[in-house]
Amino acid sequence: MKYLITGGCGFVGSNVAATLIERGDQVVLFDNMARAGSAVNLEWLRSIGSFQFVHGDARNSSDITQLIRQQSPDVIFHLAGQVAMTTSMQSPLKDFEINVLGSINLLEAVKDFAPEAAIVYASSNKVYGNLALLDLIESDTRYTPRENKNGVDESAPLEFHTPYGCSKGAADQYMLDYARGFGLKTTVFRHSTIYGGRQFSTLDQGWVGWFCRQALETLADPARAPFTISGDGKQVRDLLHVSDAVSCYLAAAEHMSEARGQAFNIGGGVENSMSLLELFALLRQRLAIDLHYLKLPWRHSDQKYFVADNAKANRLLRWKPQTGYTEGLETVLEWESKVVA
Ligand SMILES: NC(=O)c1ccc[n+]([C@@H]2O[C@H](COP(=O)([O-])OP(=O)(O)OC[C@H]3O[C@@H](n4cnc5c(N)ncnc54)[C@H](O)[C@@H]3O)[C@@H](O)[C@H]2O)c1
Repeated sequence: MKYLITGGCGFVGSNVAATLIERGDQVVLFDNMARAGSAVNLEWLRSIGSFQFVHGDARNSSDITQLIRQQSPDVIFHLAGQVAMTTSMQSPLKDFEINVLGSINLLEAVKDFAPEAAIVYASSNKVYGNLALLDLIESDTRYTPRENKNGVDESAPLEFHTPYGCSKGAADQYMLDYARGFGLKTTVFRHSTIYGGRQFSTLDQGWVGWFCRQALETLADPARAPFTISGDGKQVRDLLHVSDAVSCYLAAAEHMSEARGQAFNIGGGVENSMSLLELFALLRQRLAIDLHYLKLPWRHSDQKYFVADNAKANRLLRWKPQTGYTEGLETVLEWESKVVA
């Protein structure tokens, strides 16, 4: 099997690549190295084993066409993207070009030159808008839905909010439509929070890593200035450890006959759900520190609650997450302590 990973030097891409390289598969990585840290991940992957790296930009149709014609991959994990909602508000056109145009470029090239290739696309929970229909109970530390006890499944209405939600949602729908209309083997994963090592978190994206870093910096300097959070800190996400994301991508490739043309909500599930305030409580206890933060207004269209109901993925892909957040957070603290150092 030959695997192509677009955005292969990013957080999720480099973790998937490492697993494939270690098990001896043929791997091609495509990346424009736009994300700070991607060059570091590429060097790290080179220390693991052999693979091919192609520098190119998904927005450029000739880069993508040439890639698909030359490589003829069996499986494509399409992870290259503009990844932050906040950045999409600053530059909606750039966000559109990377996420929508980049994805159609890939679909067209696959349709014309590698129609048997499977594509798994990393979409987002943002395709469901702010989920205002959820009836939420507010406690001291979190929001919890009165119904939807297993989380949100794929029957939730699509509602694209923010340029990032629109661009991820458009690409998500194009992926599914190329399965319907052109018979391509496409699968869509709607993710919320993926966390773990090799993520270069920022204030805009990668909140678990970002707040772990704030905690480590507080440990190093208890008098440091307070950091900021958006909203009241009770917003809940389910945490998917990157090792479980990797196993999910591999499961989709393995079960493509069931996965093709399907969208899946993929996350850590109810048992791995957490609010910001709950993460802070864990970090305070784990590192024996006090955390000081200032509250900013809510981010535009931020969901107060999103937890993926993994039942469909469990049924069709025979997949479920294995890493609990206690274990997973240790890997982030270890990774972030290297970034802080
Ligand atoms: N990490 C999460 O929590 C999360 C959640 C939901 C969805 N996703 C989606 O999963 C995918 C991977 O996310 P990630 O966290 O690994 O992001 P990342 O930013 O770490 O990796 C993305 C990679 O794509 C590359 N890239 C960006 N624009 C490109 C372009 N025009 N052409 C070629 N390469 C380009 C970047 O250099 C980077 O290496 C993204 O599509 C993201 O939207 C991630």
